[in-house]
Amino acid sequence: MLAEEQPRSPPTHHRLIIGSSTAMPELADESVQLVVTSPPYFNAPFDYENLYPDYPSFLVMLRAMIGEVYRVLQAGRIFALNIDDMLVDGMKYPIVADATRMAMDAGFRYRDRIVWKKPEGYIRISRRSGVLLQHPYPMYFYPDNVLESILLFQKGKFDYKSADPERKARSQIDTQAYQQQKWFLSLWEMTNVLPNAPLEKNIAAFPEELPRRIITLFSYVGDTVLDPFAGSGTTMRVARELHRNSIGIEIKPELVSVIRQKVGIDAGQHSLLNRDDTFEVVQRACTALSLTRGPVE
Ligand SMILES: C[S@@+](CC[C@H](N)C(=O)[O-])C[C@H]1O[C@@H](n2cnc3c(N)ncnc32)[C@H](O)[C@@H]1O
Repeated sequence: MLAEEQPRSPPTHHRLIIGSSTAMPELADESVQLVVTSPPYFNAPFDYENLYPDYPSFLVMLRAMIGEVYRVLQAGRIFALNIDDMLVDGMKYPIVADATRMAMDAGFRYRDRIVWKKPEGYIRISRRSGVLLQHPYPMYFYPDNVLESILLFQKGKFDYKSADPERKARSQIDTQAYQQQKWFLSLWEMTNVLPNAPLEKNIAAFPEELPRRIITLFSYVGDTVLDPFAGSGTTMRVARELHRNSIGIEIKPELVSVIRQKVGIDAGQHSLLNRDDTFEVVQRACTALSLTRGPVE
């Protein structure tokens, strides 16, 4: 079929909720088809220094979010959690193990773990390996970490017969990219976002490639993808590009304009995207919700 004969994809809707993802009262049970996210890593040097008073408080936040993700995710669907153990003041915190246990406690099946490898020149890490150069003797070894995990959890089992044939046909995966870019491995080599990238400055954003692979592999056109730690809105942007709806939850109101820009709401950024897509910001307040909604300009 020629490109111009392809049926036009229906417009998508993108909702940004400003508040904490430890509770998601706006979202009904089983109302999203995929969750892709990367939480703040416990007190990560550079990005989240001293954000949490201690490790148990970080785990309380993570557990509450995971419980809500389980509730709002449709049966059979995937929760992809990009996370990693964190070295703080010489102590490595076992976040991957703790998050895996919490997801299983919430009811998820632990389906797989992808390791994301960043290029060797990656600079947003503690460079502790240099200690050995100053002290070239045993016991001084601390490796520079260029790996992160992408944990894949599933809510029960997927009913393959439930997929709508027309939407399934539109969601066909490019097997050439799958082979050439080695998506089939449990090791994904992806370049990270540079720390001084203008839009993602001071936000530990993941590269678009991460949600692009996960959304392509685990959702259909027209599905709704949730990111409970929206940050700069990378997941929302890629969901839109791939004709999926999105919901982002972000605690920092100052990121609204960054997210609008990234999702392609500002003038000049939407030339490749469907102009009928809509964007909505839900600003939580103590007593009431104020809602702004409008078509993409
Ligand atoms: C690692 S960043 C996410 C970056 C995102 N993946 C991107 O590509 O831009 C984590 C984000 O979670 C936000 N955050 C922290 N605690 C939160 C909470 N309880 N609820 C919602 N967002 C939270 C932070 O403000 C930060 O923007």
